[in-house]
Amino acid sequence: TRLNVAPVPPDEIFALNGAFFADTHPQKVSLGVGVYRTDDGKPWPLPVVEKAEKQLAQENDLMRHEYTAIEGDVPFLKIARDLMFGFEGGETTQQEAKARIASVQTVAGTGANHLGALFLSHHMKPPTVWLSNPSWANHMTIWELAGVPRKTYPYYHAETRSFDFDGMMSTLENDAQEGDAVLLHACAHNPTGLDPNKEQWIAIADLCERKKLFPFFDSAYQGFASGSVEEDAWAVRYFFNNKPDMEMCVAQSFSKNFGLYGQRTGAFHYVTNRSATSIRDVVVNNLCHLIRGEFSMGPRIGCTIVKKILTSEELTADWHQDLQVMSSRIKSMREALYNELVRLHTPGTWKHIVEQNGMFSYTGLTPKQVYALKDKYHVYLLKSGRASISGLSEKNVAYVSQAIDDVVRN
Ligand code: LMR
Repeated sequence: TRLNVAPVPPDEIFALNGAFFADTHPQKVSLGVGVYRTDDGKPWPLPVVEKAEKQLAQENDLMRHEYTAIEGDVPFLKIARDLMFGFEGGETTQQEAKARIASVQTVAGTGANHLGALFLSHHMKPPTVWLSNPSWANHMTIWELAGVPRKTYPYYHAETRSFDFDGMMSTLENDAQEGDAVLLHACAHNPTGLDPNKEQWIAIADLCERKKLFPFFDSAYQGFASGSVEEDAWAVRYFFNNKPDMEMCVAQSFSKNFGLYGQRTGAFHYVTNRSATSIRDVVVNNLCHLIRGEFSMGPRIGCTIVKKILTSEELTADWHQDLQVMSSRIKSMREALYNELVRLHTPGTWKHIVEQNGMFSYTGLTPKQVYALKDKYHVYLLKSGRASISGLSEKNVAYVSQAIDDVVRN
């Protein structure tokens, strides 16, 4: 062979998912990959998505399998942008704000992160990208492949199981340099479930502005985390509205909030500063150049579904209800797990489980305890102790709590 290949570690999240499917134990529980599950442990095609699909099928659109444009489905992109940025003010103000944003369709959230990283690596050349420690492991891979040097800022305070705001701020203050990119999770931080509060977001925005850092938002849970699309977009909208002289970008995923995981539905938005809107078209043009060379255009079906829903008042209202169903079931499972652990007097403190936000809990379980959960109880979670809460149900929460209690004691 002329190849020079050495093995790379398999992706932990999907390797674990494969192991879970191969496991034949009747009581197995998947708390690994971040996907929504019903109380029966089943996938949940959103009722609103099924309704939209039926309507689309009746329309028998002859164009449905045709190519779109390289930038993607343009009406979808406008809808995605409006959902993310939620423009305020009068018509002119809104037009001016929209003129700052270059949007293209991507292969879901991973694709948006990747396209953004590649675009910056070609056209901005950040000396460093700063990722939270810990972060979604794929962020590391994405920026590695884009060839941008990576460093981490503290994010998690292990002893108190809380957000290390001071650590983050002092590292970025002292070690980041002008032109560096800073990756920020818009809401429901993956894996810790710990988000900055509003005051802290304001301080982060001020720091980025003062030190001339480039904020790169990853928004994968809008509406899914709190149930409110406004609340989950608060940080992105704050930066956008209050720092008009700063550039930034957003990788937007529709995987979780519309349950369109395998349909790879997403968008990338580059936000120019208010005096550089004339470069917007050339930004789109260069993004299209990268897209064409990599995958020609994003896939069609997921965007068509999202567009159908968000252009209908009735379907949008249904979607908001579906978001409530998902986010409130997750919150109630956090409560259930916490209550069980308290009832069992499991050694340690567990309050963080109900205080964290979004799909995941960073449980604080050690790798050894995580392995024991898998080997002895067929309960699967990441070795960092990250648990996907939607894998819990009324039926298995007592079993999982008992299992955690046992591995913590032994
Ligand atoms: C996760 O972190 O489990 C999800 O975001 C799925 C993924 O792509 O890793």
